[in-house]
Amino acid sequence: MHTATQSLLAQFADAFPRSAQRQTHVARAPGRVNLIGEHTDYNEGFVLPGAIAFETRVACSPNDSGQLTMRSLQQKHEFNFAIDDPAPLPRRDWTDYVRGVLIELRRSGSAIGGADLLIDGRVPMNAGLSSSAALEIATALALLEASQTAFPPVELARLCQRAENNFVGARCGIMDQFSSVSGRAGHAILLDCRSLQATYVPLSENVEIVICNTMVKHSVAAGEYNRRRAECDECVRFFRSKGLEIASLRDLSEQEFTSYGSGLPEVLFRRCRHVLTENSRVTLAAAALEHEDLAIAGRLMYESHASLRDDYEVSCPELNLMVDLAKNVPGIYGSRMTGGGFGGCTVSLVAHDAVEGFKNEVARKYEDATRIQPEIYVTTLVDGAGREK
Ligand code: GLA
Repeated sequence: MHTATQSLLAQFADAFPRSAQRQTHVARAPGRVNLIGEHTDYNEGFVLPGAIAFETRVACSPNDSGQLTMRSLQQKHEFNFAIDDPAPLPRRDWTDYVRGVLIELRRSGSAIGGADLLIDGRVPMNAGLSSSAALEIATALALLEASQTAFPPVELARLCQRAENNFVGARCGIMDQFSSVSGRAGHAILLDCRSLQATYVPLSENVEIVICNTMVKHSVAAGEYNRRRAECDECVRFFRSKGLEIASLRDLSEQEFTSYGSGLPEVLFRRCRHVLTENSRVTLAAAALEHEDLAIAGRLMYESHASLRDDYEVSCPELNLMVDLAKNVPGIYGSRMTGGGFGGCTVSLVAHDAVEGFKNEVARKYEDATRIQPEIYVTTLVDGAGREK
């Protein structure tokens, strides 16, 4: 058994002595890093993420109290919620992800009763590495295990996405939850976000994934995210008004964009151009990685960053600085912001033997320029979520 699971079980017994007579279940779920394909998932396009070696574990034991009682190793307080609350209100903190999952599980017909939960969340928060998806998926798996209910993985990803859309109020796409459920060690996932067909792309052993955390998260992130989604919906309505039968921007061809796009307001024109060009970059990057053509994959990452910065406008000065600093270090293939944006992390592909130099130089120069000490993680790609006990 993984030492983190052992330690969580020991702490669970201390936190919930009443559970001594009952079986305790543990589930784990990883965060994700997206190599390329940003803000394309909710346009039913393509993404290329992978599950990372930062994980959340949830220990769970059923109780008879009709309450969901939760604690986290990273926080002090205990929280109690009635499981059949007819009008649950979000608290606007991490407990919403757990309760959102409970609500969706019960809505889906799963017979989930009261339970005690202890959470060990080790995915960096507010970093764009999907700590929320990891918490949702690990919670769902632990609760399902405690009620001896099986659930197909893709359905589980969809259910957790609904938890976030409906209860938390973030209109996220499917990428984060899908990556957490379906990761494969050593591989990125080329995901078609319409069909949810996944193709696994092996990552060359000559390269490392280096994640640089800017340590900032701008408060506009959530509002701007929902605004971008609304802008994409507006683009779809525009092209439909021209007689094009598209269900989402995924269906728009470059030729159609060229023929009609100039009628869009300037901002929407750029949003649309990002989605179109990003989708084609994803398929090209997946092919390049498949052929170990890291130079091409890297160039596409830089192009993706420029498009997110200039056309989609979801980057920020700290992310741009981090990418610019990375660009000048020997041994780098490519770098870009990863995740929703407005802070969080960049992802870089760096030659194996250049990683130490890269870390030192980028960290030093970023701190010199911003007075903020960044965190830099070198990660492997790992298997998706699972039950541990
Ligand atoms: C967040 C969302 C994802 C995706 C990315 C941007 O991480 O949760 O669904 O839209 O932003 O690519």
